[in-house]
Amino acid sequence: MHSTRPRVPAAPAPALGTAAERIEGRDKVTGAARYATEHAHTPPDCAYAWPVPATVARGRVTAVDTAAALALPGTLAVLTPETAPRLGEPDDPTLKVLQDTAVPHRGWYVALAVADTLEDARAAASAVRVTYDTEPHDVTLTEDHPDAYRPDLANGGQAAHRERGDAETALAAAPVRVDVTYRLPPLHNHPMEPHAAFARWDGDGDGTHLTVYDSSQGAHPVRKALATLFGLPEDRVTVVSEHVGGGFGSKGTPRPHAVLAAMAARHTGRPVKLALPRGHLAAVVGHRAPTIQRVRLAAERDGTLVGLAHEVTTQTSRVKEFVEQAGVPGRVMYASPHSLTDHRVVPLDVPSPSWMRAPGEASGMYALESAMDELADALGMDPVELRVLNEPATEPDSGLPFSSRNLVACLREGARRFGWADRDPRPGVRREGDLLTGTGVAAATYPVLVSPSTATVTARHDGGYDVRVDATDIGTGARTVLAQIAADALGVALGSVTIGIGSTRLPRAPLAGGSSGTASWGWSVHQACTRLAERLARHTGPLPVEGLSATADTTEDARRTPPFARHAFGAHFAEVQVDTVTGEVRVRRLLGVYAAGRILNPRTARSQFVGGMIMGLGMALTEHSTMDPAFGDFAERDLASYHVPSHADVPDVDAHWVDEDDPHLNPMGSKGIGEIGIVGTPAAIGNAVHHATGVRFRELPLTPDRVL
Ligand code: MOS
Repeated sequence: MHSTRPRVPAAPAPALGTAAERIEGRDKVTGAARYATEHAHTPPDCAYAWPVPATVARGRVTAVDTAAALALPGTLAVLTPETAPRLGEPDDPTLKVLQDTAVPHRGWYVALAVADTLEDARAAASAVRVTYDTEPHDVTLTEDHPDAYRPDLANGGQAAHRERGDAETALAAAPVRVDVTYRLPPLHNHPMEPHAAFARWDGDGDGTHLTVYDSSQGAHPVRKALATLFGLPEDRVTVVSEHVGGGFGSKGTPRPHAVLAAMAARHTGRPVKLALPRGHLAAVVGHRAPTIQRVRLAAERDGTLVGLAHEVTTQTSRVKEFVEQAGVPGRVMYASPHSLTDHRVVPLDVPSPSWMRAPGEASGMYALESAMDELADALGMDPVELRVLNEPATEPDSGLPFSSRNLVACLREGARRFGWADRDPRPGVRREGDLLTGTGVAAATYPVLVSPSTATVTARHDGGYDVRVDATDIGTGARTVLAQIAADALGVALGSVTIGIGSTRLPRAPLAGGSSGTASWGWSVHQACTRLAERLARHTGPLPVEGLSATADTTEDARRTPPFARHAFGAHFAEVQVDTVTGEVRVRRLLGVYAAGRILNPRTARSQFVGGMIMGLGMALTEHSTMDPAFGDFAERDLASYHVPSHADVPDVDAHWVDEDDPHLNPMGSKGIGEIGIVGTPAAIGNAVHHATGVRFRELPLTPDRVL
């Protein structure tokens, strides 16, 4: 065997900061990349499962008649709340499927058909007859709902209520005031790849092993949940999430489909695939909860803010408490001596809300940044200058210094690139035929989050390096940027790094969520590779047979909180045309400028920013899920009715960034970039629509029926 020291090039060009192409790009476009249920190793005895959703909005299952389903050809079993395997107690109650007869919302699973083929499973599921005792349901969020309460914590662990100074008095006394309420509808993530899992049980007794290929943002969290539910030690569960077709938060937590697939496989003794039809997603994988947001701003005549109040009313399910933390960005954005941020939540007979790209920030900044535009109007002040004037010296609520804050640089650079200086501030005056044109601006923020991670790297005999970390690439380019981090820390060329991610067989790592993936996984990869480089430098003689390895565990580093407020910032600019005959709003230009630490790969980063902005465009103009109060269900169940932007909706979208050198983040100096792109976009578009038309619309989306 050839057994020398790996060839370490003297000084390879640094990989970080370059626009490296996606490592798996070719596999994805040629179909070689396999997603959860199209995994190459589909065994010949594979069975298929199809869940049966409840058809009432509240009540109890009184009987499940499986006779007709079982009589169909190919049906292997129908699991019901009576016959399904008993599960352990999960942290997340939405995973307690088929354990009791209660129906907390329409679409909650009440049975599961398993059959030889996908078609047979679907036919069997539709032949299951379920009868219910129904109870009156309530699915309507209102500001004055009698069941509204103030939770202790909002999602993300922040206090639901905070006050500084005396906001009420300041708001009442100031010479210029804005007091407005915005309404956001429920929204759904709708990733291209709906949730899907393939489950297999091997061995028996103490040798039992559960393997699940799951479309998830984090294999380790799914493994933990499945181990708890099925009463197994974690080392007897393997979860693989190698390629994932998007998630936007809906795959950030373990979901019922993976539990059901494992149940069906255990019950039938066969490997089982379960791919949710898109029509089921609305009820079982979360939604961005609707919000009613009252924002009050008070200023001196020169624009200096003296009071800020942001009060959020939102909904949760009867299954678990989830509080969309829309009031939180009000604690970060602007200097104001008096401030009040508050959340109230109403438990309703609706599906459980959950994370959707920039949960909290996307909703909250729509309201806050729209209100800032309304205040600029009331003051007769330029909205960029109003924001610049109210830049805080320290984080308003905590008093902590910012590790870096370049919002003003983003606003200035954006204004320059967009041509803001030429803007005529008067609303409703730029008319060409039936079209009115306007421009708008909004700021964005997203917190810097990081979680502990572990990683391993091995120097191989052929001069290559294997990096192993259970990161997840949900389409972001995580594989590529982690390989770049490794190459630089090792001091080798990018091409000599091989990277393994997306499996619990790899070192433990956190989920892809909260724009924290690159920082979290990258930190441990950087540390392991730095250690290996040191070890290689000291090493003399041939490498050991198994190569030379180093591992890292960033538990202590990542949990150490430096005394700084750490956030990414951005500025969004939009130009719209509003058709006064049809009410249609068209975005002509969209620009985002970000300050997000060091940009590690400009190609994949730009795609992340632009993707977020396009999602924000959808939030502003087309996306909404309609809760039918009589039926108790979301009306939109496919991409024909839930309108995400298509190419024709996005003619000119661009993202730039300002350089930031922030030493208080992680060894790479990066902030998260996955979510901030959506944050300021809806308000920028809404503000542009006001500039075009002179009318304030305070309810999204800005569909023609509203605008006309
Ligand atoms: Mo993101 S909504 O934290 O996946």
